[in-house]
Amino acid sequence: MTTETYRPRRSVLYVPASNEKALAKIASLACDAVIIDLEDAVLPADKKAARDKVAGILANPERRCEMVVRINPLASEWGDDDLLAVARAEPGGILLPKIGTPRDILEAGDLLDDNAAPDSVKLWAMVETPRALLNIGAIAELGRDPASRLNCFVAGTNDLVKSTGILATPDRRYLTPWLMQLVLAARAGGLDVIDGVANNFRDLDGFTRECAEGAAMGFDGKSLIHPAQIEPANRAFAPSAGAVAEAQAIRDAFARPENAGKAVIALDGRMVERLHLAAAEKLLAKAAAVRA
Ligand code: COA
Ligand code: MG
Repeated sequence: MTTETYRPRRSVLYVPASNEKALAKIASLACDAVIIDLEDAVLPADKKAARDKVAGILANPERRCEMVVRINPLASEWGDDDLLAVARAEPGGILLPKIGTPRDILEAGDLLDDNAAPDSVKLWAMVETPRALLNIGAIAELGRDPASRLNCFVAGTNDLVKSTGILATPDRRYLTPWLMQLVLAARAGGLDVIDGVANNFRDLDGFTRECAEGAAMGFDGKSLIHPAQIEPANRAFAPSAGAVAEAQAIRDAFARPENAGKAVIALDGRMVERLHLAAAEKLLAKAAAVRA
């Protein structure tokens, strides 16, 4: 969570900017965020036309979710023009692919500042290269300075598999250490962090399992490629009924007069500290935001 007011990012759906049918669906989808993709989902010949469509897509008054646009790498022939054109359309976030160092974030931020992009345009970063993983602590540190605009990490698991040569297995055993490192860095920098995609979008049982794992690993949500994945992700990354009940019990216990001023109390045979109360308040705020 990046701010006091929690913004759900349970389900973050990629929509290729070149796919008219998919774009037309955005207003009817229950995902928390959409990433309009100008990068890997768009062929080089279509890049410019796709960029030119972004302003029209973002201007649609019927859409309800947070809107993010993934541009091409700043080092590519499209990068700078993408960044400036997209910034003018004022999305909630601009997602930078293939970053490697803090400098990549700082340069994008400088370009936005120099072109008077409003502060509401945040930077999201794909973590999908070995360099980004090795530099992840320093990159995340930028999250502590609002002027950097850095707001959210997105795991680029397909590119990580490709660039490292690890075997992609259903249980993601070789990816998991890096994903955990990513979550840790995001928390250190006060950033949200979104798990990578599941390519096999027809296997919803496998997807539901992977969402449960992602939630247990501490991710805020999951990157999605197909509308059928929205509902399972929304369910998996919302607080469970059991967790809400437990949080309420902790809040009620600390509110009892006999517990006023106590740092530690006993609840149903367990030790509960004020840090658990803080976590419970956070979880209840999250549950309320998801219900809203
Ligand atoms: N966003 C919005 N709508 C989508 C969608 C998406 N990502 N993916 C599919 N849909 C729509 C389809 O247009 C179709 O609409 P219709 O009911 O009006 O015909 C409906 O959902 C069902 O789609 P389906 O036929 O099951 O899949 P498909 O064969 O059309 O598309 C993919 C499959 C994988 C090509 C498509 O889901 C896709 O392009 N996903 C995003 C890929 C991407 O962005 N990759 C880069 C980041 S990893
Ligand atoms: Mg990628």
